Amino acid sequence: MCGIVGCIGHEALVRFLIEGLEKLEYRGYDSSGIAFHNGEEVKIYKAQGKLINLKNLLNGCLSENSNLKAGIGHIRWATHGVPNETNAHPHISFENKVAIVHNGIIENYKELKKELIEKGYKFSSQTDTEVIAHLIEDSLKNTDSYSAAMRHALKKLQGAYALGVIFKENPETLFAARKSAPLIIGVGENSNFIASDVPAILEYTKKVIYLDDNEIAQIQGSSYKIMDLEGNILEKQVEIIPWEPVAISKMGYKHFMMKEIHEQPDVIRQTLFDKLRCFSEPLHLPEVKLTHDTLEKLDRIQIIACGTSLHAAMVGKYLIEEFIGIPVDIEASSEYIYKRTVISKNSLIIGVSQSGETADTLTAIRQAKSKGSHVLVITNRPDSTMAREADSLLPVNAGFEVSVAATKSYTAQLMAFYLFAIYLAEIKNSLPQEEIEEYKKELLQLPQKVEMILSNKEEINECAIKFHNTRNFIYIARGINYPVALEGALKLKEISYINATGYPAGELKHGPIAMLDDTIPVLSVLVPGKVYEKVLSNSEESKARNASMIAVTSADDENLESIFDYIIKIPKTHEIFSPILTTIPLQLLAYYIAEYLGKDIDQPRNLAKSVTVE
Ligand code: F6R
Repeated sequence: MCGIVGCIGHEALVRFLIEGLEKLEYRGYDSSGIAFHNGEEVKIYKAQGKLINLKNLLNGCLSENSNLKAGIGHIRWATHGVPNETNAHPHISFENKVAIVHNGIIENYKELKKELIEKGYKFSSQTDTEVIAHLIEDSLKNTDSYSAAMRHALKKLQGAYALGVIFKENPETLFAARKSAPLIIGVGENSNFIASDVPAILEYTKKVIYLDDNEIAQIQGSSYKIMDLEGNILEKQVEIIPWEPVAISKMGYKHFMMKEIHEQPDVIRQTLFDKLRCFSEPLHLPEVKLTHDTLEKLDRIQIIACGTSLHAAMVGKYLIEEFIGIPVDIEASSEYIYKRTVISKNSLIIGVSQSGETADTLTAIRQAKSKGSHVLVITNRPDSTMAREADSLLPVNAGFEVSVAATKSYTAQLMAFYLFAIYLAEIKNSLPQEEIEEYKKELLQLPQKVEMILSNKEEINECAIKFHNTRNFIYIARGINYPVALEGALKLKEISYINATGYPAGELKHGPIAMLDDTIPVLSVLVPGKVYEKVLSNSEESKARNASMIAVTSADDENLESIFDYIIKIPKTHEIFSPILTTIPLQLLAYYIAEYLGKDIDQPRNLAKSVTVE
């Protein structure tokens, strides 16, 4: 949520700020702005709407200019105040001495604002951020030290912040600070950078320092100091980012989402690499730090996640209960954190998050950890805050996911759950060895099967042509595919804004069936196995109400043609692995429908990829 960049000492400063914001556009895109010191004063440019508007405003400023000093930039996902130019960042203090960009929410901003107004400060925006600029300026009245003024002001803030700050009278220094919102420092040659996330700086440097909570960085062109809120200097490790800039390009696809959908076969291969070495050998998960003894005694698991990650968690629950027979509770992180945390001695908490920065999930795992739980995190970002705070980590290696709608990271999360469930079954001896070997063989078949779906998209495209103007869509499934129905509906909602809902197929007749008529398509996910016949009956019930029917199925069943208007075939697999395959057509259907509707697929309205506010 909101992206921050900053730079000092680079001659292409404005270009860095704009290109950096472009790479962070997945974090928010309702307005943007930059501020830089030109040696005499701080210049600010802001624009409402997408980054292109700011770029147009800056036309002519993008050429190199070695006279420019420190600069900061921001791309916004509005929390306080509508997304207009006034509320866009950077915000400047009352006497124009301090310019700041901020990601996070200041919870006590109303009290602080009142105090500042009493002191004579005037506010021009509706944001919580503006109080920080005035507070720092106010603190500067009592000290000559910029870092002391920063520390004094930050101690008054409650809530979350990642900050980039520049001062009118100190053009050679850029300040950064972090509390509960991600921020990194990029260490370059005679120039240094700050950013909310790695992609912004990847073309400039691969050396990074991850700021921790309550740390402040005082950064110059060829040096930096990091301190705590008391001013004690801290030794921080410089880490090397393992990614290449090409990891964040569209590689010829029209949208990141389509590219990421097509990366899924390789993501599955990558997830299995080095973990599944031989069918008869136990899986190799060195990142799981729980001892075999603890795992053997494990009697309960709680999984916490949001959105698409929550749907992956629902599949995880099904798998673990099926393979190991211990209870698994899943909960939306935003609900978990406002309830009493009940943890037993032999329980494990699993947090699932693509970004590893989602505020609700981060708070939830911190809460569980403080009660003594072992926290295992499944994340796509081993460099994230969650990964750093986890006791055990299951990295999912999907690579950077840029499109706001999660696709390949979801598949990778599912793979992580397959591996973890089999790993537990091996340790707890809860499944016969032959069955485990069967499952391992099937896992290795999945990439080719996904490739088959991706090379035969015609039927899916036809459905999209037929149904893209519908206003409502229903997805039904049962058992392990029920979360797939939820995920398919979420994908469609997110990028096409069509009202799509996923139901357990058996629930239709308890209410939702009242909505059905010939205007509402019903998509059934049905694969041969435990619940096939039941989903078929529920589909017949929908057909009897004149709904247009679509099947996503691997069944060779002649009866299907009499019920379904469209049949999207997927390769056969064991029912337990079918979510990996049934998900892919639903991602593609959502994509094509959004494309026919002319929607902004990679950056749907009102959304942001990394949700760092609660
Ligand atoms: C949907 C989507 C979101 C995220 C959710 C959690 O396509 O991407 O629903 O899944 O915001 O984000 P992470 O997984 O980063 O914790």
